[in-house]
Amino acid sequence: MKWSRLYNGAKARLPISMRFLIEVLSYWRRLCRYNASVRTDKDMQKMQYTLLRENHIIEKGMSMRNTRKGFGQQKVTALISRLRKYNHLYGSVDKSFLAYPLSTIKVYVDYQHADGIDIPEIENAFQQLCEEVGVKPESLVLPAGIEQGKAEVLKAQAQGDFPSLLYSRHSMRYFLDEIPSKELLEKALGLAARTPSACNRQAWHTHVFFGEDAHELLRMQDGCKGFTEDIHCCIVVTADMKGFLGHEPFQCYIDGGLYAQNLINALHYVGLGSIPLSCGFMSDKLISIQKHFNIPENEVMIVIVGTGVMPEEMKLAISTRRPVSATNTYH
Ligand SMILES: Cc1cc2nc3c(=O)[nH]c(=O)nc-3n(C[C@H](O)[C@H](O)[C@H](O)COP(=O)(O)O)c2cc1C
Repeated sequence: MKWSRLYNGAKARLPISMRFLIEVLSYWRRLCRYNASVRTDKDMQKMQYTLLRENHIIEKGMSMRNTRKGFGQQKVTALISRLRKYNHLYGSVDKSFLAYPLSTIKVYVDYQHADGIDIPEIENAFQQLCEEVGVKPESLVLPAGIEQGKAEVLKAQAQGDFPSLLYSRHSMRYFLDEIPSKELLEKALGLAARTPSACNRQAWHTHVFFGEDAHELLRMQDGCKGFTEDIHCCIVVTADMKGFLGHEPFQCYIDGGLYAQNLINALHYVGLGSIPLSCGFMSDKLISIQKHFNIPENEVMIVIVGTGVMPEEMKLAISTRRPVSATNTYH
């Protein structure tokens, strides 16, 4: 206790640039231990998170406007082999985790069959995995893969009560070839401005790009392979570092993140489709995007929200959620 008081007292007397360095080193230490790229399969949670990511790549593939015939076979093969490894390492601790990725693979196999593609090797590997896990493929009934969405229905649900708004919002990976009106965009931006922020500083900022500019931004973001040209409007959500003091060096990401989620819900409410697209990249990539698109360096990029006018019908990734019991701890 005494040591920590002494340490904190000494730290408080350091110049602010040194205190920031200590902060960055403390974050570095945690990154080295807990980042999912570090000793991934030695940690059950890291393995689960990375498997959920690989699982999502398969369902997202099925949710694009045009899927390449027979797409994703290498990825599914790799997923099956990592799932086998998971079952071997952690199946006795948390087998229930496997239900969702197994359901996705089952849907993927059916999807390929419906597309006239035979994938016997994948089917055999899947069968073998199911046997090892001790489940029958026909018992895999968890919602997985994709569902069909209708714009008319989704728009009505978005204007219903709060659960109806949340349950009807989905990430959409293709839109009509038209630019959403500034009136609708500004209505959504106005609703998102109701987001709470630390001491009401409202340090968020948005930068809107249309048409070819939006496509170029997405090419640089590189997380929308296969649907870059299907998104014709991008809203870059940033947060201004100038809004935050020395004791809150990461607050910009928190306030910016809260704003971004409200913006996504607000876009849905006003009847536009949307998809959040990652800005969680290394700083060199982000800085080069910011330079290219004239986004000031004092702003940190939080997320790119692709938005647009919904087609009448669309394919949506189901993106099944983990149960609350897996994410909540009562203390
Ligand atoms: C911060 C963030 C970054 C994301 N980045 C991408 C991305 O780069 N490419 C993509 O296809 N989807 C991206 N998504 C969309 C997620 O895949 C999607 O939100 C998730 O699967 C849940 O599905 P839902 O939005 O339909 O509920 C991102 C979502 C968030 C919140």
